[in-house]
Amino acid sequence: MRKKIVVGNWKMNLNSEKAYKLLENLESISFPNDVEVIIAPPSIYLDSFSKAKKLFISSQDVSSNDNGAYTGEFSAEMLSSLNLKYSIIGHSERRQYHGEGEDLICKKARQLLKYNISPIYCCGESLENRKSKNHFQVVKSQLSRLLNEFRGSDFQNLIIAYEPVWAIGTGLTAQPSDAQNMHLFIRQLIDDKFGLEIAQSVPILYGGSCKPSNSKELFSMNDIDGGLIGGASLDADSFSTIINSF
Ligand code: 13P
Repeated sequence: MRKKIVVGNWKMNLNSEKAYKLLENLESISFPNDVEVIIAPPSIYLDSFSKAKKLFISSQDVSSNDNGAYTGEFSAEMLSSLNLKYSIIGHSERRQYHGEGEDLICKKARQLLKYNISPIYCCGESLENRKSKNHFQVVKSQLSRLLNEFRGSDFQNLIIAYEPVWAIGTGLTAQPSDAQNMHLFIRQLIDDKFGLEIAQSVPILYGGSCKPSNSKELFSMNDIDGGLIGGASLDADSFSTIINSF
């Protein structure tokens, strides 16, 4: 049985007063025991958020380097020293605004795995890709280095997040059946490489305008194991409705 996971990616939102208030709010809500709830706040809050009692905390990114002269970055070792267990990598906003590609993202994955931190590895096609019906090919190429250079045992410590870029922050959501088809496709890629047992164990999350009005239907799909939530994670009521919609 795969873990059910809901991640709130706060991106670059909330000043410290609002951030701590929302954390406090979320910590006071009771969530189903079988759902892992993860918050990815701006990195400036990670140290104090790491003391959260119920929620798991993730970073939104990590350096591909060990420690050293890399101004502005933070390392997997630093995340590990805060006892953090998750880090998002390869988000489409990092790909788009920081020119990140598979080579760099896989180096980040390697750093994280070295410190026993689960990468939440993002992939997803653009609207152009979908319109030209290249979406499966694009997602396959985004995952090919990961599939070819990592071992099955690494995949047991990894989460995939499928986030179609055209659905992020736009209010457009993938049809649950379209999202399911992509999730199944990703699981089959893992199956082809590492076999069914590993493929069945990897959580695959959906992200892109996931909200209280559509989360139930999305999460009811066989291969959708939860969500990576942006905008709707900034409101305690919306986020908790999403968490309760399995
Ligand atoms: P929205 O839920 O705001 O569309 O963002 C999704 C996302 O990018 C989460 O990482």
